[in-house]
Amino acid sequence: EVVVNLRQKGADISSSMYGVFFEEINHAGDGGLYAELVQNRSFEEDEIPEGYRIEGTKLIPLAKPYHLTGEIRERSFEWYGGKIRGWNLKTGDLSEASMRLTKERPMYPTAPNNLELFIQKTTGAVQLVNEGYWGMGIRQNERYHLRTIVRVDPGYKGTLTAKLLSEKGDILARALLPCIPDGEWHDMTLVLTSVATDCKSSLAIEFDAPGKVWLDYVSLFPENTFKKRQNGLRKDVAEMVAGLQPAFFRWPGGCVVEGITLNNRFEWKKTLGDPAARPGEYSTWGYRCSYGFGYYEMLQFCEDIGAKAMYVCNVGLSCQFRMGEASEKSDISYYIDDCLDAIEYALGDTLTEWGARRAADGHPAPFPLQYIEIGNENWGDEYDRRFDMFYQAIKQKYPQLTLIYNEMPERNGPMGITKTDMVDPHYYVAPEFFFRNTDLFDHYERGKHTVYVGEYSCNRGVGGGNMWAALSEAAFIGGMERNGDLVKMASYAPLLENRNNRKWPTNLIWFDSEQVVGRGSYYVQKMAVENRPTYNVANDKVLRATDTASYVSGHIGFGSWATAVEFKDFKWVSKGHRVDVPLGETTRNYGSWSYTDGVLSQTSLETGTQYILKGFKDNDYTLECKAR
Ligand code: AHR
Repeated sequence: EVVVNLRQKGADISSSMYGVFFEEINHAGDGGLYAELVQNRSFEEDEIPEGYRIEGTKLIPLAKPYHLTGEIRERSFEWYGGKIRGWNLKTGDLSEASMRLTKERPMYPTAPNNLELFIQKTTGAVQLVNEGYWGMGIRQNERYHLRTIVRVDPGYKGTLTAKLLSEKGDILARALLPCIPDGEWHDMTLVLTSVATDCKSSLAIEFDAPGKVWLDYVSLFPENTFKKRQNGLRKDVAEMVAGLQPAFFRWPGGCVVEGITLNNRFEWKKTLGDPAARPGEYSTWGYRCSYGFGYYEMLQFCEDIGAKAMYVCNVGLSCQFRMGEASEKSDISYYIDDCLDAIEYALGDTLTEWGARRAADGHPAPFPLQYIEIGNENWGDEYDRRFDMFYQAIKQKYPQLTLIYNEMPERNGPMGITKTDMVDPHYYVAPEFFFRNTDLFDHYERGKHTVYVGEYSCNRGVGGGNMWAALSEAAFIGGMERNGDLVKMASYAPLLENRNNRKWPTNLIWFDSEQVVGRGSYYVQKMAVENRPTYNVANDKVLRATDTASYVSGHIGFGSWATAVEFKDFKWVSKGHRVDVPLGETTRNYGSWSYTDGVLSQTSLETGTQYILKGFKDNDYTLECKAR
């Protein structure tokens, strides 16, 4: 039994509390949220990240970067490219054809690769086939927009046909592409309507005569994207994300913000404009993303679902778990300016350089950008120094924005920065951690800044995630809500997983080309957002623990145990007499209690000291304490 004062308000629970964290990991974007059906549409995916060479199946750095810790590193990575990812050439028995990547006469120098097809002999047709991301989800009577950029050699005297094929090879849709054999690039579109549903479909371009043809770009989108946006999002996946009613959307990551090396960091400016001209980037998660779900598309999605955007910028540091590179000090201003430009793109009026670019891209009104996270998981002195510079520059120009600092997990001692609005600690833990730490934020210092738990999930020892994991997250959420005066925002991570490409052990939403499902943890998030209390009830009166079993036995997540740690000045009263318990003055000394056979014991979280009290009987005592 917990006695609380219902008339007295406790801390508010912020309306911004629940948001989502997006990163291009597990094919979350390409082959996921982003509706593009063709894999490697621009033929850039076998491009080696700058600063690397291939040796066998490894990417080897050309230079040895100087790590933040002072060591010189030579780290290699697995290379997953190398055979024109996504594309296959199918020749009939007697046909002969070959394909190769070339950078000759690129349509867009920013995305220079194109595919050269050399058809030597045709008896039937030669097919260039793309199976999408583990099959294309093609549905009956749906319209699909095909865009190709093609160059046909004057010697080619045949036709070009686009076909949607079922897994068995049945033709679901078919259309002739204009064939202009003048040796010049032609950008063309057509619509294919499918006669049946098959989620393991593929797209084929057919050639029926000898000669040479080059393809710079082959893209296929369902017409029915989320909110019918062009270059839009896969409807079912986007609806699943929107179902979480996110108050904010954090983008673009995650480690991809930092990159394996600085050259390899995520660059928002390269994600703007014609998708065919976007270079993409080899991601730290083992594949090259297309930059299709770019900055503009992210901001548009935020507007569509009523979320505030959070942009995470690079501070001139690459991922410290990988190459850990730091830019020259003289280059820090470049990274600051790049971040200021990103803000101007979202918020600036159309007379500013980047505001004008936003208008030219199709959105004259500002987008709802509210948060800037300065770096991702960049912990340490060098980061702190840079943070101060970024904070000052951004605050001066955009005082209305909320700026966020990467907080080192289990930080000891004060931060090495002058000021921040929020801190972002991350928790990837075992269920026991969340169950035990529903009181984690009770011990946080108040008054300097608020907290955004930017990445958390139970991902240790729970496989791809299970009910126990989900319940432990629910317990942790209870603790965050109870500390609503401090914890203003939180986002589970990672958000999305293509079932064919799990790069991270547990992820919230699973999908393949056919369906999308939320794991148990998804429904915990949904439950939390749909039942978000507006405020806590103050519990400054008397807390009575009359039920020994449930109260004293320890961490049970939501509820009595978690509530107890709101209090200080504990005193145990047995049969009307105060019992002296060496609990200390504040909740800091408060640890986990256990009760067996009349013996109550506690181990202090802070000192590890164990207190043992004997002679208790079930239902024979009361705990009194004051609100913090
Ligand atoms: O969410 C997966 C990764 O975990 C993120 O990229 C990174 O920020 C964290 O280490």
